[in-house]
Amino acid sequence: MLDFRDKSAAYPALARDLEALLSGEHDLIANAANTAALIWQALPDINWAGFYFLRGAELVLGPFQGRPACVRIALERGVCGAAASRRETLVVPDVHAFPGHIACDAASRSEIVVPLSTSAGLLGVLDIDSPLVARFDDRDRAGLEALAAVFLRCTPSRPAGAGAP
Ligand code: SME
Repeated sequence: MLDFRDKSAAYPALARDLEALLSGEHDLIANAANTAALIWQALPDINWAGFYFLRGAELVLGPFQGRPACVRIALERGVCGAAASRRETLVVPDVHAFPGHIACDAASRSEIVVPLSTSAGLLGVLDIDSPLVARFDDRDRAGLEALAAVFLRCTPSRPAGAGAP
């Protein structure tokens, strides 16, 4: 059990765990499912962890842990759409103050969305929600970007919007 009171130690350990978990497997769905499950088990104070993949001009729900979520998000909508469009990680301390936030679970109060950028284009986003206001800080941003990089390194990508995995 990792101790996230020391995030600067816990995230690198979690990245090593993820690398070991995904090592040797290249299937997009399998690796996304195990990445979501590992994050869900490890991070305290979260109520959703998972993926949306880019399909044409919208994001489509991928493997996740948490309550059932909205399936399709247009690129101009929500925190996920904004992070995908800008190709940059968004940390939202209070989702009620984010114009256009999509409330999949009314319990969610803060959110972080990491875009999955590859040389072939945008694969999708990694999305984590928390029931606590301001749950995510710069150490979470760096730690989750590192986890996303491990996921991308272990999982061959495909051009954005290229059909079913
Ligand atoms: N809140 C997100 C939608 C996805 S759910 O949080 C799982 C958004 O505003 O894009």
